[in-house]
Amino acid sequence: MQPLVNDRYLRALLRQPVDETPVWMMRQAGRYLPEYRDVRTQAGDFMSLCRNPELACEVTLQPLRRYALDAAILFSDILTIPDAMGLGLTFGQGEGPRFARPVTCLRDVQQLPVPDPEDELRYVMDAVRTIRSALQGKVPLIGFAGSPWTLATYMVEGGSSKTFTRIKQMMVREPEILHALLAKLADSVCLYLNAQVAAGAQSLMIFDTWGGVLSTPAYRAFSLDYMARIVAGLTRESEGRPVPVTLFTKNGGQWLEAIADTGCDAIGLDWTVDLADARRRVGHRVALQGNMDPAMLYASASGIEQEVARILAEFGPGNGHVFNLGHGIAQDVDPAQPTHFVDAVHRLSRPYHR
Ligand code: CP3
Repeated sequence: MQPLVNDRYLRALLRQPVDETPVWMMRQAGRYLPEYRDVRTQAGDFMSLCRNPELACEVTLQPLRRYALDAAILFSDILTIPDAMGLGLTFGQGEGPRFARPVTCLRDVQQLPVPDPEDELRYVMDAVRTIRSALQGKVPLIGFAGSPWTLATYMVEGGSSKTFTRIKQMMVREPEILHALLAKLADSVCLYLNAQVAAGAQSLMIFDTWGGVLSTPAYRAFSLDYMARIVAGLTRESEGRPVPVTLFTKNGGQWLEAIADTGCDAIGLDWTVDLADARRRVGHRVALQGNMDPAMLYASASGIEQEVARILAEFGPGNGHVFNLGHGIAQDVDPAQPTHFVDAVHRLSRPYHR
């Protein structure tokens, strides 16, 4: 394997000195890019794109050709695991994910297999290997998975939800069923992430998009504890380098100390969190990733620049900051806009690293 040319992202996650604050964007490969829409059309649909390692590699690299990003993220989805468990995943036009066979009872949970990453999910590992070789060591490759709780919301609701009625009914009426499901998902996610590292992923991120809809005790019991179990089982070194792990709970700003207690290397923050406050609370223990509101990408170039300057000042001088959006980039963003964002982070962050 080639040596890594740009390792700012890995260094920042480990709170080591860097020359400029590294930056990447959640959902940086996606529908806001016309070249992505072309490749998706060529593939037929979203899951066919994920299952084709050459095309998945191509769309992973697309944002890196346009912007000076410091990391690549595997093109795939968090729902590959429930799909591999046999739930029948489809993405309808403009309606988000749908499962043909949602999980409703203990029998359903008991019948779910723990997928073998090099078998049912081999297409993901092939994508990791293909991307890693195509990157030629330019920037590190991020592997990822969904948190057990977030995956369970889709599996029990049968798709996206605004109210989480079914999974919350399960949580309060039959918590043992939910725990059985979460335990199986934690085992599956751990195997899946370790296989991504073996295939060449250099950093790992767990997306807990829906942990923030829980009460504090429920968050601990149904989301955080399972992420902690995963963190404890992950391969933390590969190719002679640490493999940093980032946990992102959207709307999880009030639980930063508990998230840091899992032993992760970094915490992803949405835009509602004050970075200075977060740094005071946990910055001596973990790196922080975030946290510009993705809506700022609708602003003028100077508006974006001012917001980047404000966030850099909020974090302040020193190590341990990875710049990112607080959530995924919207599909109607003008592809010219991220250039202003990415370039501003690099240019304006230099004085903070002297
Ligand atoms: O550059 C990247 O980050 C690409 C890899 C990536 C995708 N999904 C591609 C994708 C990643 C890291 C994800 C994570 C993901 N997927 C999350 C967690 C992060 C978050 O956004 O909160 C979640 C909750 C999902 C589940 C999911 N996948 C939903 C709810 C949807 C439909 C909503 C939507 O945005 O259309 C998807 C589809 C999806 N995943 C798309 C992409 C590019 C759009 C599919 C398309 O091309 O139509």
